[in-house]
Amino acid sequence: MALLETKGVSIQFGGLWAVKDVDFLIDAKEIVGLIGPNGSGKTTFLNIISGVYRATHGAVTLQGEDISALRAYSIFKKGIARTYQSSRLCWDLSVADNILTGLYSKQMNGFWDVILRPRRVDSEIYDSLQECMDILSYFNPGLFKRRYELAKNIPHIDRRRIEICRALVGQPAVLLLDEPTAGLNGEETMQMMKDIHKIREINKDICIIIIEHDMKVMESVPERIVVFNAGQKIAEGIYNEIVRDKDVISAYLGGAAI
Ligand SMILES: Nc1ncnc2c1ncn2[C@@H]1O[C@H](COP(=O)(O)OP(=O)(O)O)[C@@H](O)[C@H]1O
Ligand SMILES: [Mg+2]
Repeated sequence: MALLETKGVSIQFGGLWAVKDVDFLIDAKEIVGLIGPNGSGKTTFLNIISGVYRATHGAVTLQGEDISALRAYSIFKKGIARTYQSSRLCWDLSVADNILTGLYSKQMNGFWDVILRPRRVDSEIYDSLQECMDILSYFNPGLFKRRYELAKNIPHIDRRRIEICRALVGQPAVLLLDEPTAGLNGEETMQMMKDIHKIREINKDICIIIIEHDMKVMESVPERIVVFNAGQKIAEGIYNEIVRDKDVISAYLGGAAI
């Protein structure tokens, strides 16, 4: 059984099929790249998996359980975490507090506990913070030193790192990365590639779906690549097969060799 599977997943906006009939699977420890022209449905596909949209047709299963009808919050709790194409952080919170929000779904104490069992609440917050800081200090020691600075004062590449740490702290089974190198220059893209490899040192069983335009990233990061065009999956394989695939070349690059 695959860790995460979609069968015949489709979604329509108005008259347009943004994603159409996509069968996809990924196993634990796998990294799969998702490429395709702008508007080909990549982000929408991740939105369906993470519960931001509900598919018009088809099913998404996680470890055999149908999660298609669950809301984003419940899907996150079940172990699918993500980052966004454009950073979504709480700009007036510190780096540490932003990462801490990733553990919200795992925290057991509620409103009454704050009043009735303050020590238990304090200890939960302490443990959560410790976990967040362990991950951040391992993932990026430089950013760890800036953990009390506000997110709005942090450079773009570090904002992306905060988002990745926030997604990682809940120990997700699946991580969805939507264009983690968008807006980064060549040197920063190389750094981000190293960071993505580091994710597996933090969580060795995690599987990752990464949307990316940069073919250098696609060559070195994923083990397998899936290609979308006009909402449909048009090819799937290892990098060397994909870059020679005629359908991929004509859809993705208007006929020019990759
Ligand atoms: N909420 C929405 N309402 C209407 N159309 C949408 C919505 N989300 C995505 N789309 C459309 O779906 C198509 C695929 O978009 P998207 O998944 O963002 O593409 P990609 O990430 O591959 O660039 C586009 O035509 C886009 O305009
Ligand atoms: Mg997109």
